[in-house]
Amino acid sequence: MKLHSSNGLHGSITVPGDKSVSHRSVMLGALADGVTHVTGFLMGEDCLSTIDCFRKMGVRIDVGDDHTVTVHGVGLHGLTAPTERLYTGNSGTTTRLISGILSGQSFASTLTGDASIEKRPMGRIITPLRQMGAVISGVDDKFCPLAIEPGKLHGITYTLPVASAQLKSAILLAGLYADSPTTVIEPAPSRDHTERMLRAMGCGVDTDGCRITVYPPDHLTARDVAVPADISSAAFFLVAGAIVPGSEITVRNVGINPTRDGVLEVLRAMGADLTLTNRRDDGEPVCDITVRTSQLHGTQIGGALIPRLIDELPVLAVAAACAQGETVIRDATELKVKESNRIAAMVRELTRAGADVTETDDGMIIRGGKPLHGAAFETYHDHRIAMSMAICALVCAGQSDIADDGVVAISYPDFFDALRRLGG
Ligand code: S3P
Repeated sequence: MKLHSSNGLHGSITVPGDKSVSHRSVMLGALADGVTHVTGFLMGEDCLSTIDCFRKMGVRIDVGDDHTVTVHGVGLHGLTAPTERLYTGNSGTTTRLISGILSGQSFASTLTGDASIEKRPMGRIITPLRQMGAVISGVDDKFCPLAIEPGKLHGITYTLPVASAQLKSAILLAGLYADSPTTVIEPAPSRDHTERMLRAMGCGVDTDGCRITVYPPDHLTARDVAVPADISSAAFFLVAGAIVPGSEITVRNVGINPTRDGVLEVLRAMGADLTLTNRRDDGEPVCDITVRTSQLHGTQIGGALIPRLIDELPVLAVAAACAQGETVIRDATELKVKESNRIAAMVRELTRAGADVTETDDGMIIRGGKPLHGAAFETYHDHRIAMSMAICALVCAGQSDIADDGVVAISYPDFFDALRRLGG
């Protein structure tokens, strides 16, 4: 993909459905009694991996045109033994959340994924699931493939070592199969889509600050899911609209769950011109967001904000490179264990474009305002690095190249077309 500096992006777009909500609609729809109609589903590779895994466990899932999915629930105890390994592709969410569900089944299963998944930390789920009574093992007890045997689960109270919704959700989903309530204590609130969807399906879930308790239900009742547009995908265009001179972009129907909207808080603190309209709530709060170009300035990003914008940090680093003054990202070591080491990747690629960036132990320091120039950018086979550097390319003098552009299909298959439609 070749990209050029832009004179302005204009128009309105709807970005694809939320990845986290799409995964959960299939998983919980499969475990519910009744049929779940999902609209706005993200047809990205990660969510298709989730569909594939549940089909292999006997769940009928119809994928319609126009981002609709119908999940024919089999009930909490209706999954059947897969005849082959469950392959989760590049998807950490699929791998970790399914592990929680599989720990409570009466059949054995094996989970495997691509080269990136085999490097991502799974010890963090193996430890609490074993405490619950799961019979689960991995390579060196840390990595995929994971082998899960039938186990009898009991409720635990577990303090998470990191604020991770994948880890929290794995434990809560295993908790559906436990003989007593399970409590998870988070260091800071992470995305709460699992809790919201479980409650909507009739399961008892209490949230008291950072303490979440799930009460094992008799059954889950199917509820239709309207997936909001993914704020993590919207973020690319919010940053583009802020930094590309002369732009005005409206992104429609964006999910603004308070556990996910840190990117809006940070862009506002940087001086971005954002207008939120048409707010509504259909299980998840949504609105339309209009962004107009403005001069950004540096800011501090750390602490409890990090889990609220973890996937948006790469593109926020691009915004920081275009801002006046210094931006410090700290408390973000989790970025090192995403689809790539996103701290190292962004420091390297922004430096390639001429930005002044220093890697730190838990983030980076970006001294913004240096003139940026086009380059051949690497993606590290990470969808969010590819899209972040594509946005960066719009403000780089000259031409940029992204060789591995197909990787965007993980979460946003149509990304480059959407950028072209806005005038990029
Ligand atoms: C996700 C949680 C986050 C996020 C990932 C999706 C989820 O990961 O980075 O893209 O759907 O629960 P962690 O929970 O590991 O931070």
